[in-house]
Amino acid sequence: MIVALNNKSNLTKTEFEKYIEDLNKIKTEHTMILAPNFLNVANFKSEKIYLAAQNVSSYEKGAHTGEVSADQLKSFNVKYCIVGHSERRKSQKESNEEIKSKIINLFANDITPILCVGETKEERETGKAQEIIEEELKIALDELSQEQRDKVIIAYEPIWSIGTGLIPTNAQIEEINKFIKERYNNKVLYGGSANEKNIDELKKCPSIDGYLLGGLSLKPTNLQEFVNKL
Ligand code: 13P
Repeated sequence: MIVALNNKSNLTKTEFEKYIEDLNKIKTEHTMILAPNFLNVANFKSEKIYLAAQNVSSYEKGAHTGEVSADQLKSFNVKYCIVGHSERRKSQKESNEEIKSKIINLFANDITPILCVGETKEERETGKAQEIIEEELKIALDELSQEQRDKVIIAYEPIWSIGTGLIPTNAQIEEINKFIKERYNNKVLYGGSANEKNIDELKKCPSIDGYLLGGLSLKPTNLQEFVNKL
């Protein structure tokens, strides 16, 4: 299983130094991936956890103030990168086209994209969840080569579940993951309020290949409990 951790905009330099020490003490056979913020990418030290970024520029290097390019991430040994997180789609108005450019830049630098997709509460209630996810995947993935496309890790993160404590039923997760897997050969992670308590139920979903954790990523003790139960 993949256990990917998204720190979001949390942890100052000093907090991160203590955090990474604690995280390195976690014992697990599962594949751990940590996505700290850009500044803490530079402070990352681990023998067993893979380094990820939370975002990348849709441009190549050059005159793009404030952007971080894929080749810069590569130079810091970043192996994975989250793209299309719903928080960025919403606040930074990231489009599916822009996300596609990010994925292309990542592949040019041997970095594996973790592509987030998911529906809002309203889209679920109006029966549009699959349509939205289909479009997010189609634009981001369909023009890649088959070889590249298959490498992308997809993270199904229902927006209404992120940071809310609301978890879809296993049947709802299975329905979406089945829909994705009928079209793509990719690994699919689940993200949204997953924790050491609800993992007993979530792990009954055979379609889940791993998890993308936000809040729980910041609590190494609870995270140890989570991976023990996986
Ligand atoms: P929470 O686990 O805090 O709900 O966040 C999930 C997430 O957005 C991971 O990318």
